[in-house]
Amino acid sequence: MGRLNKQLDPTQTGFEAERLESDLRKRIIGQDEAIDQIINIYQTHLAGMSSPGRPIGNFLFMGPTGSGKTRLVEAAAESLMGDARAVIKIDCAEFQHSHEIAKLIGSPPGYLGHRETHPLLSQEVLNQYHTERIKLSFVLFDEIEKASDALWNLLLGILDKATLTLGDNRRVDFSRALIFMTSNLGAGEMSSILRPNLGFGAGEAERQYSSGIVDQKLGDKVARAGLEAARRKFSPEFMNRIDKTVVFKALGAPELRKILTLELNIVQQRIFTSANGAPFVFSVTDAAKDYLLREGTDMKYGARHLKRSIDRNLVHPLSNLIATEQVRGGDLIRVDYEPAQGRLTFFKEAEDMPAYAMVQMVDTSIAPPLGSFAAGAVAEIPRAVNGKATRR
Ligand SMILES: Nc1ncnc2c1ncn2[C@@H]1O[C@H](COP(=O)(O)OP(=O)(O)OP(=O)(O)O)[C@@H](O)[C@H]1O
Ligand SMILES: [Mg+2]
Repeated sequence: MGRLNKQLDPTQTGFEAERLESDLRKRIIGQDEAIDQIINIYQTHLAGMSSPGRPIGNFLFMGPTGSGKTRLVEAAAESLMGDARAVIKIDCAEFQHSHEIAKLIGSPPGYLGHRETHPLLSQEVLNQYHTERIKLSFVLFDEIEKASDALWNLLLGILDKATLTLGDNRRVDFSRALIFMTSNLGAGEMSSILRPNLGFGAGEAERQYSSGIVDQKLGDKVARAGLEAARRKFSPEFMNRIDKTVVFKALGAPELRKILTLELNIVQQRIFTSANGAPFVFSVTDAAKDYLLREGTDMKYGARHLKRSIDRNLVHPLSNLIATEQVRGGDLIRVDYEPAQGRLTFFKEAEDMPAYAMVQMVDTSIAPPLGSFAAGAVAEIPRAVNGKATRR
């Protein structure tokens, strides 16, 4: 055995973590730090290096509403478990009183209603999305600043010892769980740094923000304001149990434009996988995209407002067109913008297109995995597909 002096590269990630990372980067825009933190923890878990007797990871996500906190957790579940709904969500505001805590953990034997209660956090619930290959649970506690003291104590036990004791004394093991907590604490302070109404320097922060390139200094200042708000409100014993605190960034115009493309793709996927079994394709002109963005940009609500704009201006009219059979399976619909009327307009450009031709017209590289329709269409004429649509 000769002596070696070969330099190793600890920044490389394994295949599994790499796949998760590329999935998340496609789906979540502008929140690279949050993605990096999830990848780090996941990689540590895969290597068997996580601390025993604790959850796989405890994350605290802060930052403005509609910036992707919940979506990131769902996207990770989608990538690893194959289903965005494989996230157990606890809205802390709903568990303020002791009888509501019983909904989470069940009541002790002998109490009225003991037999009827099915605790929301039992081991069965936790394990319900486990597959042969992957035994992970995603648990999301939303708005933790609203948790009551009783819930807070449960949470501390889960974060520290990975166990929860139910009302009937059974124990729930959280050591295969990723725990995410979200909080909007400090969001007001953070946004007033980026969008100050008064004062010297307002112009510069505003300019950086709307160009989407917030420099390191300003970004750090915002993140610090978030962390300070957390430290003021949460006890040190809680903060010490968090592996990673991430302050999500407020989304600027360039991010919202990318999210628009992503969301339009998701609408198209939905048409492929459902739309009453009569899939069609739509294309959106640049003028129509600009209109959707103008209508959907409200910096206060992040991408949430954009999704509403897409629903109102595109999804609802399309649904009407489907219901009245003006749009049928196999159609190609162009969505344009009509300035005089100030709304989107819809034109049929082709009809009776075969399935494989429709699949080829859609960019499937950034949307969620294709449903059975597109997969079927690919199988139908395999060689006609240029590789774009074969990704699963
Ligand atoms: N960074 C992002 N990348 C891609 N899509 C996003 C992003 N942020 C928000 N979205 C879109 O907006 C929707 C709402 O975002 P999400 O539910 O993640 O907000 P949130 O940060 O959890 O807000 P809240 O604090 O109000 O719970 C998502 O379902 C997603 O479609
Ligand atoms: Mg959320």
